[in-house]
Amino acid sequence: MRVVVFGTGGREHALVKALSASMTVSEVHAVPGSDGISKLALCHNVDPTDFASLGSLMDRISFDLAIIGPEAYLDKGLADFLRDRSIPVVGPNQVGARLESSKLFAKQFMVENGVPTARFFEVSSVEETVEKARNFSAPYVLKVDGLAAGKGVFICKTFEELQSKADLIFNQKAFGGAGKTALLEEHQTGFELSCLVLTNGEQFEVLPLMQDHKRLLEGDEGPNTGGMGVVGPLPESATLIESLKESVIGPTVKGLARSGMDFKGVVFIGLMMTENGPSVLEYNVRFGDPEAQALLPLYAGDWGEVFLSLAKGSVKPMSWKPLSSACVVLAAPGYPDQPEKGLRIEGELDFESPSSYFLHAGTRYADKMWQTNGGRVLNSIGLGSTLEEALQRAYAQAEKIKFQGMQMRRDLGQGLLKK
Ligand code: AMP
Ligand code: GLY
Repeated sequence: MRVVVFGTGGREHALVKALSASMTVSEVHAVPGSDGISKLALCHNVDPTDFASLGSLMDRISFDLAIIGPEAYLDKGLADFLRDRSIPVVGPNQVGARLESSKLFAKQFMVENGVPTARFFEVSSVEETVEKARNFSAPYVLKVDGLAAGKGVFICKTFEELQSKADLIFNQKAFGGAGKTALLEEHQTGFELSCLVLTNGEQFEVLPLMQDHKRLLEGDEGPNTGGMGVVGPLPESATLIESLKESVIGPTVKGLARSGMDFKGVVFIGLMMTENGPSVLEYNVRFGDPEAQALLPLYAGDWGEVFLSLAKGSVKPMSWKPLSSACVVLAAPGYPDQPEKGLRIEGELDFESPSSYFLHAGTRYADKMWQTNGGRVLNSIGLGSTLEEALQRAYAQAEKIKFQGMQMRRDLGQGLLKK
């Protein structure tokens, strides 16, 4: 089977790696891919949202399966375009992508389907934000409605900070159209986890529960990012999944069926486990990044088979290796605001073993050297029989390279290890 993965980052490198190891896959392609990904896949320098150019590529090469990484492509209707050409796709249609591309749409979906989530108000000006904030106390949570690459969520410690973020969104229009409206939401405290579900819109299979680290700095300080690292599975993953099926996952999947979305893909449920039970923070409609990097190597079977049957509408039961996994993100200086590109990456980037390796998230090869080329530059992966071992391997791997101003959190998984 000839498979194509859409995207450029560490998640897509992980998908390409998993598919390269599949017995059912003969060729792996990536659109557009990256220099790092090109070691394992044939990369085509085509913009996945330029359907005319993509159509020409597909006239030349026929793909048997497509997997879409980033939400932005789903939001542009890439899955619809591919299905119209009779290619089985892992990824929802454009309507399904609204669950991620509009936080307001997602909240309405949760309310309609009885999925537990924080109280909220829709706001569209500084004045309205200030007025509705009277219903809550600090810290205040303000989220732009549209896609913002994980950077449109503000946890404001003070009322003044809330005012300044509202000003940034509504007056300075820092997020353009994505920030036309925003949500002011009740702050939730508890333990955060990532719950990824493969679903055809009716049946589902829940992947092991993982923990991302969203804040840039150790001790969960600093700005929100796309994710600075993932560990898992959570120790109580299997038991927790059973309870989440009833309260969160079941109602979510029933909602998909009712809404008529063509949903053959991944629903990523961002959850806060509060003292009053689970509360859904957000839905994503694709694999998490960096959740995928840590999760994919834990599956005991063949990802090519899983993805093909999912794309054709059936969900296979899955079994998992008795291993733990860690993905440490090595980010460029300036991330998340203005990551510095073109910095030389030195060291043993090619070093790999079955239990530790690098994935390329934002690199390029130019002038005979590897360089930083994005915010999250590399992912250092470690697998082990315990979480301590997985972390130790991922951090030891990270030591093998360096670049100027590299940002890395050294406290991944500490919350779990202390439990
Ligand atoms: P989101 O993109 O909506 O998942 O938000 C990004 C991050 O902000 C989450 O992963 C949480 O760490 C944090 N967050 C979002 N909503 C809330 C909330 N209501 N209370 C506390 N933290 C939140
Ligand atoms: N790691 C969080 C996300 O993929 O949105």
